[in-house]
Amino acid sequence: MDEASTDRAGRTIALRAVDDDNWRAVADIAPRDEQRGFVAALAARYLLLSMRGGLWTSLGVLADDTVVGHVMWAYDEEGGAYWIGGVVVDADEQGRGVGRAAMEELIRLLSRRPDCREIRLSYHPDNSGAAKLYTALGFTPTGDFEDDEVVVALTVPRDPAG
Ligand SMILES: CC(C)(COP(=O)(O)OP(=O)(O)OC[C@H]1O[C@@H](n2cnc3c(N)ncnc32)[C@H](O)[C@@H]1OP(=O)(O)O)[C@@H](O)C(=O)NCCC(=O)NCCS
Repeated sequence: MDEASTDRAGRTIALRAVDDDNWRAVADIAPRDEQRGFVAALAARYLLLSMRGGLWTSLGVLADDTVVGHVMWAYDEEGGAYWIGGVVVDADEQGRGVGRAAMEELIRLLSRRPDCREIRLSYHPDNSGAAKLYTALGFTPTGDFEDDEVVVALTVPRDPAG
């Protein structure tokens, strides 16, 4: 059964592959100016990272038919964990429940993979909005740091029979 996530206005929040139609809108996603210390100034940087490295996969966040954000994920074979990165909701779309819904969708998407036992991500310790969101979603500190960022993890429960 597929549940859909919605934002506070009732728009359906979905994650979509970046394609010929939506890549410009995804590339233009930008945080607020004062958030540039936490994330790239434009999602275009994350799109390039996904295209260049073959490690990350970028996804557009859509509210109904409008591109409102960017997220990306990767699998770390060495550590055996999935990672989430590049979480940005467009400045004008923040505070409406998009970030929470997009994260719920991405967690659901990754959790469906049979080898997904743990999802990790990192955030700047001063990024209190992100910290609140991730804590509310169940992420807990690992004690690790990536550069100057706190690494948190979410354990994905597996069906013992599955
Ligand atoms: C962090 C971010 C993705 C959240 O997206 P959003 O759509 O604004 O968040 P939501 O409206 O879904 O709010 C979800 C929760 O986040 C927290 N939150 C989000 N922004 C916040 C802020 N400025 N201050 C305090 N809490 C905040 C709240 O706990 C909120 O909980 P609530 O639903 O009980 O109100 C968005 O603010 C963003 O793009 N920020 C800039 C980029 C960034 O910092 N990304 C994370 C990098 S690790």
